[in-house]
Amino acid sequence: MPKVKSELYREVVQQASALMEGEKDLIANLANISALLWMHLPDINWAGFYLLKDDELVLGPFQGKPACVRIPMGRGVCGTAAKLGQPQLVEDVHQFEGHIACDAASNSEIVLPFYQGAQLMGVLDIDSPSQARFDQEDLQGLQNLISVLQEALA
Ligand code: SME
Repeated sequence: MPKVKSELYREVVQQASALMEGEKDLIANLANISALLWMHLPDINWAGFYLLKDDELVLGPFQGKPACVRIPMGRGVCGTAAKLGQPQLVEDVHQFEGHIACDAASNSEIVLPFYQGAQLMGVLDIDSPSQARFDQEDLQGLQNLISVLQEALA
């Protein structure tokens, strides 16, 4: 039987917390989080990070197919989440104005910004081949994961 989402995210957050304990290296932590998400989340085709550099998002650690390297602030789902500083939960990416199709297989997407103190560091981006794959439980679970990451970076 598939695991209930709350339990799944509890496990992911617990493992992420253990992997990041005492570790402040950004790339190492993001690489492990991408791997954890890829291992645990069903029905996804991309999971990873874009990092804010000179007012642009640049591809960071990820799992999945090769992806677009640079995303301007305000562009696509990632650029929108970064510009607004708010998570984006997109049930159908084809209805999202300006969506950037890195992988034609993607149909829904969730993006959450993350910070070091008050400074925006980048976004976590997860894509799915299914429409409306992500819901409020995913958002909550991923927000908990981002909190653990932010604590590690603080
Ligand atoms: N679809 C994203 C681009 C990044 S890829 O999905 C990995 C967007 O619209 O920002």
